[in-house]
Amino acid sequence: MTSQITSVLQETRLFPPPEALVRQATISGIAQYAAMCAEAEQDYRGFWARLAREHVLWHKPFTRDLDDSQAPFYKWFEDGELNVSYNCLDRHLGTPVENKTAILFEADDGTVTQVTYRELYHRVCRFANGLKALGYRKGERAIIYMPMSVEGIVAMQACARLGIIHSVVFGGFSAKSLQERIQDAGATLVIAADAQVRGGKHIPLKPAVDEAFALGGCESVRKVVVYRRTDGPVPMVAGRDVAWDEVVQGQADDCEPEWVGAEHPLFILYTSGSTGKPKGVQHSSGGYLLQAVLSMKWTFDLKPDDVFWCTADIGWVTGHTYITYGPLACGATEVVFEGVPTFPNAGRFWEMIERHKVTIFYTAPTAIRSLIKAADLSPNHHPRNYDLSTLRIIGSVGEPINPEAWMWYHTQVGGGRCPVVDTWWQTETGGHMITPLPGVHTLKPGSCTMPLPGIAAAIVDETGTDVEKGKGGFLVVKKPWPSMIRTIWGDPDRFRKSYFPDDFQGRFYLAGDGASLDLDGYFWIMGRIDDVLNVSGHRLGTMEIESALVSNPQVAEAAVVGRQDDLTGEAVVAFVVLKQARPAGADAARIADELRAWVAKEIGPIAKPKDIRFGDNLPKTRSGKIMRRLLRAVAKGEEITQDVSTLENPAILEQLKQPL
Ligand code: WT7
Repeated sequence: MTSQITSVLQETRLFPPPEALVRQATISGIAQYAAMCAEAEQDYRGFWARLAREHVLWHKPFTRDLDDSQAPFYKWFEDGELNVSYNCLDRHLGTPVENKTAILFEADDGTVTQVTYRELYHRVCRFANGLKALGYRKGERAIIYMPMSVEGIVAMQACARLGIIHSVVFGGFSAKSLQERIQDAGATLVIAADAQVRGGKHIPLKPAVDEAFALGGCESVRKVVVYRRTDGPVPMVAGRDVAWDEVVQGQADDCEPEWVGAEHPLFILYTSGSTGKPKGVQHSSGGYLLQAVLSMKWTFDLKPDDVFWCTADIGWVTGHTYITYGPLACGATEVVFEGVPTFPNAGRFWEMIERHKVTIFYTAPTAIRSLIKAADLSPNHHPRNYDLSTLRIIGSVGEPINPEAWMWYHTQVGGGRCPVVDTWWQTETGGHMITPLPGVHTLKPGSCTMPLPGIAAAIVDETGTDVEKGKGGFLVVKKPWPSMIRTIWGDPDRFRKSYFPDDFQGRFYLAGDGASLDLDGYFWIMGRIDDVLNVSGHRLGTMEIESALVSNPQVAEAAVVGRQDDLTGEAVVAFVVLKQARPAGADAARIADELRAWVAKEIGPIAKPKDIRFGDNLPKTRSGKIMRRLLRAVAKGEEITQDVSTLENPAILEQLKQPL
């Protein structure tokens, strides 16, 4: 980490906020930002309560702000009642927003569909009424396995309208992952599409649902609602499967929302942790919505005329907060894109920004890096060939953005005039935590700058003491905040141990990231300090991949580590011991391919190891502990300078150094 910190301290390029933007920004200038931070500092609960009254519509106002009596199981605005879907849709009816375009949907093949707020409201109501007719009620869990589509958003909103807790499973996850989530959530409903269309290809989804059922443990599910995206054949299971069109057929255009308490779970979203089993991150309704709305207004400085585009998938938290909930609750017009950035060519994003006159664009560093490469290879699709003059703010999320990619994004995409908001947050935080504000912060390429007002983020050493400027440590949050994770579904103990560990006497939320503070008090995220990898902005647990590998009948033992990768940020490297003798040559290549396919089937293609090395054994200490530190060095191709005298079997290192 020391060398990383040194390089951070050497970043001297500064980008002050454009004057014109400062003048009209929702949070305008450093003085206003400082005043808001001071307000939160002085009266923390009052600060959040004021914002919750101003930015959320309550059916029954709350009288209690924060309840910390069961810490770390914090509750916010608990006696208040609201409905999140009401806040996203009904609130706009009878206002000028009613006939405004809510969603500009662009299909993979370029077909554009526009949906107004009124139409979206009716579509959500009809689908919600259909679910009600099928007998679904508040508190039940629905798994949503849908591509990027208006219907995917309608499904989520309809659940929210009825108080049904949704859990969206990313379309790239396997049948096995789907089955585990159905089972863990005790889902009674599955909403799935027949297929998704990406990059000109039809990728089936419904067969994975059928396979999940075949794996067993899905008995809690009563119905599978099937949305037809393509016209290919879809085998339907009688009595269980029902077509989307049938669900909405004849249903009324209005549906009274189910009022829920502020703490009613809006959704569960599974994410990887440091054990083999993904964690069901549980979010609230009131506190979550508040921060979704605030960050749209603060970080993106959203104004009525903006056209907002977040390129994330609804299967990730970014898609929840910055596609399904935040923009709609603010009455924004947003672009929703079905396809991939490189189809039909690498200019797709830029062409879409031009076509839809996008003003706020939010994407991931991994996409930026791959488009830099693509623009080099095919200059015709370089952003300079497109009119991107409508852009005013551009954002980044999901992983640290390297200063070179930041500079390219800022100059080539943002024309040197758009602030880059590098937003640090997590599935668990629900919304932005540390991020520049476009009308406030002077930017430094690669830094997420400073915490939002009210967010008590800090960097501490192992004793829990704040590090000095110029030093690194653990990223923590010292006070609860409204959109924070409430618990891990069905596993409160794991929640406490993972996020409020005894190391800091349970006082701080531990993010799991290493970070450093520079001399100006700017935050720089260094990456995960636990056994979690970040591959193309996707979070993967090394243990999860290891357990997938060892469940293969050929594998005796496996260890997985991350390696820095220019394109994907990190890449998965697996060290494998087979039950049979160590394979060589074509044999080794064949088995490696089989294992990759196996991991894709067990978890999903995103978890496939890039590099697989076979050994007779793994490097272990005499007490049998795998030395991951060494494996990380081997994966990088570094000379081993570390002391290997405690190693049970030093010769193994030579074997593992050999690429296939
Ligand atoms: C992890 C959370 C945030 C929604 C998408 C990912 C890394 C996220 C940044 C950033 C550096 C970042 C962290 C974090 N991360 N944003 N701007 N700079 N690192 O959510 O899957 O829950 O992953 O992503 O390591 O802990 P997630």
